[in-house]
Amino acid sequence: MSTPRIALVTGANQGLGRALVAGLAAGMDPQDRVLLTGRDPERVDAAAAELAGAGARIEGRVLDVRDPAAIERLASELGEVDVVFSNATARMSPDADPTDEVDAVAETSNVATSAVLRAFVPRLRPGGRLIVVASALGTLDKLDERVAARFAAAASDSLDAVDAVVTDWRRAVLEGTAEDVGYESWLNIPSKVAQVAAVRAVARERRAEDLASDRLLMALCPGLIDTDASRPWFDDMSPAQTPEQAAAWPVELVLSDSFDPAYYGELVQFGRVIPWETGVPVSHAASGSR
Ligand SMILES: NC(=O)c1ccc[n+]([C@@H]2O[C@H](COP(=O)([O-])OP(=O)(O)OC[C@H]3O[C@@H](n4cnc5c(N)ncnc54)[C@H](OP(=O)(O)O)[C@@H]3O)[C@@H](O)[C@H]2O)c1
Repeated sequence: MSTPRIALVTGANQGLGRALVAGLAAGMDPQDRVLLTGRDPERVDAAAAELAGAGARIEGRVLDVRDPAAIERLASELGEVDVVFSNATARMSPDADPTDEVDAVAETSNVATSAVLRAFVPRLRPGGRLIVVASALGTLDKLDERVAARFAAAASDSLDAVDAVVTDWRRAVLEGTAEDVGYESWLNIPSKVAQVAAVRAVARERRAEDLASDRLLMALCPGLIDTDASRPWFDDMSPAQTPEQAAAWPVELVLSDSFDPAYYGELVQFGRVIPWETGVPVSHAASGSR
């Protein structure tokens, strides 16, 4: 019998994360484990109970991704993993003052993504897949060129260098200088660019070794999804996918025996690599996260 596989999704008690867990469990074998993780024990238990059924065993586990030590502890406990989705996100409100939200956004999406990369990339089994859920906002063209140049340089350097730009962005927001120095006032843009930069920085160092072992490290642009996170930003949600629709392609990708090596280290949407420098147009009128 083959070794049971382990999949893990962060921020998985609702939205896209929950649908990723459901899709993974449906596509994996009964001896496999899918860890549905989230920060709130009751919400985690409720979601795990609701999704229990056919396919792999779903285990609810509390993991607050704002606690990097907890990420490392869980990775160490598991030892090796096959599939990881770094998906958790902090809620943002169109009406909020960015200074009130930047700590939660940076810690949930960026400090946590770096911690997931540090903890789980070295523990990916051959054939493993680690996907950071980013967005179409995660490309350099979405930023002022001064800041874009800093993220580009960091992505070509190291994960530590990306973390340093995130720290600088966070400080600038808190000090009220973010727009003056070129950071977008909409927190989601620097945050998503930093996630893609983090993936690129790690991928740059690991590409040859990972591709030789059929491991995929990639950022995902899932497209617009109708969730509680996106709804406040859009008047018209009619073009949005359901979470289940948005989860279908990434689940198929991570459970496939093979992948297009062009995806490695890139931001990918529905099988298409989105160019890091030029991205795809995103409507600011809608102001949502895609
Ligand atoms: N929705 C879209 O249109 C869209 C578009 C592009 C990209 N994305 C990306 O897709 C991902 C999922 O978005 P979504 O729309 O599904 O968001 P969502 O419905 O708000 O779900 C976010 C999940 O993250 C969890 N979370 C928040 N803080 C956490 C923490 N400290 N530790 C662990 N979990 C935490 C939430 O848990 P609680 O229930 O406890 O709050 C929730 O389960 C995000 O990375 C987002 O940026 C979404």
